[in-house]
Amino acid sequence: MKRFFVFSVVALLLFTACSNSGAKKVKIGFLIHSTSSSRWQMDIAYVQERADEIGANIVLKDAGGDENLQLKQANELLKEGVDALIVVAANQNTAAGIVRDAHQYKVPVIGYDRLIKNSDLDYLVSFEYDKVGQYMVDYAIEKVPHGNYVIVWGDATDANAIFVKNGIEKTLAPHIENGNVNVVFKTYVEGWTYENAKHIVDEVLDFTTEKIDVAIVCNDPMAMGVYAALEGHAYGPNEVIITGQDATLEFVHGMLDGKMSMSVGKPIKELAYGAVDMVVDLVRNNKAKGFDQVVNNGRKDVPAKLYSPYIIDKSNFESELIGKGVFTREQVFRQ
Ligand code: BGC
Repeated sequence: MKRFFVFSVVALLLFTACSNSGAKKVKIGFLIHSTSSSRWQMDIAYVQERADEIGANIVLKDAGGDENLQLKQANELLKEGVDALIVVAANQNTAAGIVRDAHQYKVPVIGYDRLIKNSDLDYLVSFEYDKVGQYMVDYAIEKVPHGNYVIVWGDATDANAIFVKNGIEKTLAPHIENGNVNVVFKTYVEGWTYENAKHIVDEVLDFTTEKIDVAIVCNDPMAMGVYAALEGHAYGPNEVIITGQDATLEFVHGMLDGKMSMSVGKPIKELAYGAVDMVVDLVRNNKAKGFDQVVNNGRKDVPAKLYSPYIIDKSNFESELIGKGVFTREQVFRQ
């Protein structure tokens, strides 16, 4: 009897140990709208790195900017049996279909960086995008308090483009009202791309006679496109203050060449690690921690975790980007 008791206890201990170490490997579908900006390569690498560290599986799908393909990819992943979906929406207005389909499979959806409008989105991990816009304007106004500004927003189907735009408008309004800033033109840019930004600004510069002092541009690829357009219209390096977003390696090179002045950086590693950690927690324990804010998506207040952006320029890029291990000295100085 005693022997049987000892055997049972050992068996129970063994079973508990096995079931803990063999805790179900969480399978996460990561749907990304496109990888055309180098920013997203960093997100993918960090998401994968964290998943490897904590023993989760990532299945990645890149929609190449096609919202219909993204919906199809979501359904493939749901049929494959993913436990959760992390989604960078290709279109904030139509991605609600992904959330609807996922919920039919009882799979939670986490908006990553981008909101999904008018949907029952479970959580959002993102950044304080109004601050991104505010920081661009604060920086530009300090350098050029009086002058001609052009404003180049992102893609109108991305909620982030609107949040950044709101931050810009709120911060710039008093400077326009008191007559110090003249906005020569402002535009959205489809896909947030270099080519589209260059094309639009080229056309505007063909017709305007005003000398441009500042270009508030909402991400790095577009900023480089705007610089190319300006260059084609006889502007040289360091002549126009040009802002960007994401603090990519292309920005750092552009800044060192006098093509861009600043970029609003964001803690991508924290975002990526935070997203993977919360998804694993959610799947294993049915709860997610640290969602202390909400963002309204038109249908509900989505529980959100929003990380803070920061300004990168010549004064701090070495400490912030090289010192903190985002890029190596060799990458930055192209050695
Ligand atoms: C992101 C930016 C990015 C842009 C284009 C936006 O949703 O917030 O960081 O540059 O998409 O990929």
